[in-house]
Amino acid sequence: MLEVFKTTSSKVIAVLAILIVVVLQYRFWFGEGGHFPHQALLQQIEQQAEVNAELKERNRILAAEVYDLKNGAEAIEEHARLDLGLVKPHETFVQMKPMKMTTNLRQNNRKIWAIVPAAGSGRRFSKTELKQYQVIQNQTVLAHTIARLNDLPLAGYVLAVGEQDHYAQTLPLKNKHLSHFCLGGAERVDSVLNALRYLEQFAQADDLVFVHDAARPCVTQQCLENLVDTAINLNSSAILAIPVRDTLKFVENQQDINKTVSRDQLWQAQTPQISTFSKLKKAIETALANNIIITDEASALEYINEPVKVVMGRSDNIKITYPDDLELAKLILQSQQ
Ligand SMILES: *[C@@H]1O[C@H](CO)[C@@H](O)[C@H](O)[C@H]1NC(C)=O
Ligand SMILES: *[C@@H]1O[C@H](CO)[C@@H](O)[C@H](O)[C@H]1NC(C)=O
Ligand SMILES: *[C@@H]1O[C@H](CO)[C@@H](O)[C@H](O)[C@H]1NC(C)=O
Repeated sequence: MLEVFKTTSSKVIAVLAILIVVVLQYRFWFGEGGHFPHQALLQQIEQQAEVNAELKERNRILAAEVYDLKNGAEAIEEHARLDLGLVKPHETFVQMKPMKMTTNLRQNNRKIWAIVPAAGSGRRFSKTELKQYQVIQNQTVLAHTIARLNDLPLAGYVLAVGEQDHYAQTLPLKNKHLSHFCLGGAERVDSVLNALRYLEQFAQADDLVFVHDAARPCVTQQCLENLVDTAINLNSSAILAIPVRDTLKFVENQQDINKTVSRDQLWQAQTPQISTFSKLKKAIETALANNIIITDEASALEYINEPVKVVMGRSDNIKITYPDDLELAKLILQSQQ
């Protein structure tokens, strides 16, 4: 012990000094403006800053929406269509049940078949003349087409080929075990009918049948699925098609424009075209029996008043017809990979 703490008064002073130190320490750590309240305040400020940032982002989005609403007819149209269910004159509003195609097929116990008329039009077989035997990336156009169709869970596909065509059967085709070959006819429609008659031994009346051009190798899986979904959900025949975009002219005497034709309700038909086995067979047989000129399956269905829906296709689902088209198809297939 130090000398100074020996007297009573100095002990009292020492105790007082300790007390003062304790009180000051307490005020430093816990008092108003002390260490801990200061920390708590900093934390509060940080939280408020986060809330402010969120509010600022929300305001920015709202401002953008207000701008869109003020300026964009598209936003208004989207709101009218999607939220209010409004349609333009001559439009039909179709809401698709989001039923998965494969579930749907299984539930209904239906199969999908594909028919590919590949006989040309009655000419003698010439591998070089038939566009389906041109080669893109080491594969014939036909092989590309068959590969695309097999993006769907097919029960089988039938190729209707020319009598002298011994080449088709030698091609490496996707899911070759699902392939069938039958004889084509003089015209496309005859080939399709032959294929339907061939399918009779496997297909049920309610099974779905696709008909697709051999020379349309760029059709996408999404379009194929949309088509099947429409056929199943709307219980209807359907085809891929796109609205006509170009201005149309009615021409007389080879080159005299008579007038501009309204394109409002005009669509360009593509393939695939889908129907049920029994409807399609009946339609084609009836139309042929009445000497109706049939350029696609839908025209036969229309002839027997069977409803057919259009399903939005894509402009890159081209049919290879002219030499230029082959180059285009190469580019499209490349870009789709
Ligand atoms: C294309 O075929 C040739 C010969 O058959 C082969 O050498 C080449 O590797 C093939 N190319 C591709 C991309 O498959
Ligand atoms: C589908 O339509 C056909 C007539 O085209 C009708 O016979 C059949 O009962 C319909 N099926 C369903 C599930 O609505
Ligand atoms: C278009 O055809 C109609 C009917 O044939 C005719 O009356 C009209 O004069 C033609 N118009 C033109 C610009 O050729």
